[in-house]
Amino acid sequence: MKEYRIVLLKGDGIGPEIVTQAVKVLNRAALKFDFRVQFEDALLGGCAIDATGVPLPQETIEKCKVADSTLLGAVGGPKWDSQPGGNRPEAGLLGIRGALGLFANLRPAVIFEPLRGASPLKPEIIGQNLDIMLVRELTGGIYFGERGHKTVNGAQAAYDTEQYSVPEIERIARVGFEMAKKRSGKLCSVDKANVLESSRLWRATVARIGKEEYPEIELSHLYVDNCAMQLVRNPKQFDVIVTSNMFGDILSDEASMISGSIGMLASASLGSGKAGLYEPIHGSAPDIAGTGTANPLATILSAAMMLRYSLDEPQAAQAIEDAVAAVLKIARTPDIWTEGLKKVSCEEMGDLVCNLL
Ligand code: IPM
Ligand code: MG
Repeated sequence: MKEYRIVLLKGDGIGPEIVTQAVKVLNRAALKFDFRVQFEDALLGGCAIDATGVPLPQETIEKCKVADSTLLGAVGGPKWDSQPGGNRPEAGLLGIRGALGLFANLRPAVIFEPLRGASPLKPEIIGQNLDIMLVRELTGGIYFGERGHKTVNGAQAAYDTEQYSVPEIERIARVGFEMAKKRSGKLCSVDKANVLESSRLWRATVARIGKEEYPEIELSHLYVDNCAMQLVRNPKQFDVIVTSNMFGDILSDEASMISGSIGMLASASLGSGKAGLYEPIHGSAPDIAGTGTANPLATILSAAMMLRYSLDEPQAAQAIEDAVAAVLKIARTPDIWTEGLKKVSCEEMGDLVCNLL
């Protein structure tokens, strides 16, 4: 029987609650589809700072490196806001992405049919269904560029640098093109080439890879400001979007909101190997931590992505996604609850998904 070793980075705030539900669902899927999962906890974020003084202990990196994959809840919270930049919980998240070489972040923005009413966009704008795959570069750009403080004309100043090398752009472009090949054959690359040098290199490189390696893919380019507008004006025009680290961070929050709740969206971070890091795109929601009201579905869907992209269990992935779609017709957590449906807690939601599996 196949056995997979998965590291759990439960993190802070609602992290532990939502990961616990995803573990339940993974165990149920394992039973049904005949594989085994072994879980091991490791520390990341604020809880790691409390226990070890740093947000990303070396031990966590080692554990993740030898695992088949990693499932992450969320990190951060007001308790650690006074930490210096390099020792914030978020620095731990960036650190683990970098240490594992996870340069490609897949963020699907889909609308589950029962949630169409939850989207802030008008039904005629959403159309029949919406399914966008945002491919975000994750280990380069301004998040990882040179940064610091200096004095300018006698005043304190701070700076961060956006920098991309050709190989960095090439490899993320290929992820975008491959994704487009599996889907509609259309790829939109997003940059700010009218202003930024790094974006001009981005655009030229993506265009060259398209011409040389993927002539069958229909490639378009958009400036990021225009893309932000188009996402709410006519989101149906998009299928696969590929973009830089920071633009992807911003556009994925926007795209997620189209789906009705940021509590629904999963993500996969991949490198050149098979193992990946899977996490909901929402944060640690410290305001509702411990109240039992968190929505575990984005984490459960992240576990499904893990089964699909890292563990070769596509049937189990599909079954979980179907169970989530089914549960939304019966019961919801408070963030997406509407009249006529059962209002359930985080734990009850996990149980329901298991039952429907
Ligand atoms: C995300 C988050 C992170 C990011 C933060 C928490 C560092 O916003 O995964 O989108 O900016 O990448
Ligand atoms: Mg973000």
